[in-house]
Amino acid sequence: MADRYLNFTGTGAGRFLTSRLGLPQPVPLKRYSDSKPDLGGPLLHLTAGGSALADPLEEVLRRTGLPVQAEAERPAAVVLDATGVRDVAALAEVHAALHPVVRSVAASGRIVVLGSVPDPEDHHQAAAQQGLEGFVRSLGKESGRGRTVTLVRTGSAAAAESTLRFLLTPKSAYVSGQVIEVSGAGAAEVTAPASWARPLEGRTALVTGAARGIGLAVAETLARDGAKVVLLDVPGAQADLVKAADRLGGSALPLDITAEDAGEHIAGALPEGLDILIHNAGITRDRKLANMPAERWASVLEVNLASVLRTTDHLLKAGTLGRGARIVATASIAGVAGNVGQTNYAASKAGIIGLVRSLAPRALAEHGVTVNAVAPGFIETKMTAAVPLMIREAGRRMNSMAQGGLPVDVAETIAWFANPASGAVNGQVVRVCGQSLLGA
Ligand SMILES: NC(=O)c1ccc[n+]([C@@H]2O[C@H](COP(=O)([O-])OP(=O)(O)OC[C@H]3O[C@@H](n4cnc5c(N)ncnc54)[C@H](O)[C@@H]3O)[C@@H](O)[C@H]2O)c1
Repeated sequence: MADRYLNFTGTGAGRFLTSRLGLPQPVPLKRYSDSKPDLGGPLLHLTAGGSALADPLEEVLRRTGLPVQAEAERPAAVVLDATGVRDVAALAEVHAALHPVVRSVAASGRIVVLGSVPDPEDHHQAAAQQGLEGFVRSLGKESGRGRTVTLVRTGSAAAAESTLRFLLTPKSAYVSGQVIEVSGAGAAEVTAPASWARPLEGRTALVTGAARGIGLAVAETLARDGAKVVLLDVPGAQADLVKAADRLGGSALPLDITAEDAGEHIAGALPEGLDILIHNAGITRDRKLANMPAERWASVLEVNLASVLRTTDHLLKAGTLGRGARIVATASIAGVAGNVGQTNYAASKAGIIGLVRSLAPRALAEHGVTVNAVAPGFIETKMTAAVPLMIREAGRRMNSMAQGGLPVDVAETIAWFANPASGAVNGQVVRVCGQSLLGA
């Protein structure tokens, strides 16, 4: 479904009129393409309150390919190292560093603040570091023009390399106002890929719900990054599934994921094992609770949550997912904020968040597998095209980008989680929502 309003505000007359009326002014977001893979401008590297990183950030920033500078007139990206901020006085240095430059950041530019994990033993450090979270979320809301603002908490620049590379490219166009924790090197295996252009070369990825929408975009993106993709969807979608699998040089696995033995079926189809498991299949059956029959409740909980738990448990136990494997599940901002008519859906998606937080540390310790989730906001798909017009318009505009995201925005985020270099990214729930006002 085309966003006509976004097209209109892209014209001179549209910009003039919407600005006079005080209406949202979305700008087309810069997205990744092979011909335009980077942000196309300098990266400004700033520090506030000293750095607490264990290793040099500058080298990692240089490897992104952007020209790293200490001063830039029109930076495409700003990285502020605030890991050493330990008290309120040092927070003033954050203001001093960014105040003079925020206005000059290019449209669709990036501001990434690096922070440290708040210290439970030091309430002054914890206050200052938590302060960065409020700072980043507010700056995201006021930045406009497709700029994104993110906080990455880490003690190691090297462990955060895959995260910085994701955030400092057009691949993260619809990710803003997020707080991402990357544990220090040593906590997990962080393997730099042989090629950052095709980091998933030699890996096998299974995507559920891959016949269309977000799942199809995920399969396309993982294939672009070098993975051999297995596309799973209900037998009724077999024709589309086979077509997509053929186009991507992958294979189709028609299967209802709610089947009791779905895990066994997947394990049987992948005797050589699986490196990347993407739980994407999902359904909505909206009704207010007072009007919701038990079947509608049960079908949503079954597809969106119970089958995810069952197949994950089976594939870990069977050893199909081995060391270095990645699991990414799909939550939703409805699972964070709740939504009218979606008690079943929000319960299932909040359940995904619970699953990720609980399983992540154990899956890493026991199996060497990371477990993360994306929580999409309003994404332009068949699912959201079916939403009534006024609610659809509100969903599109009520975020810092004033527009809906595209399936590829979710896919790029999943590809970052799936990267072999993302071993220190575990237990994270990252919203791909343009910093939606809901649940932010
Ligand atoms: N579109 C959005 O704005 C949005 C927002 C938040 C979360 N999500 C989540 O993202 C995921 C993908 O959403 P989408 O918009 O692409 O939806 P979609 O309806 O376009 O695609 C979902 C796919 O899952 C498949 N599927 C459903 N039940 C299945 C089952 N039992 N076994 C196997 N496959 C099954 C469907 O056949 C379909 O191809 C879902 O989990 C959804 O809840 C979407």
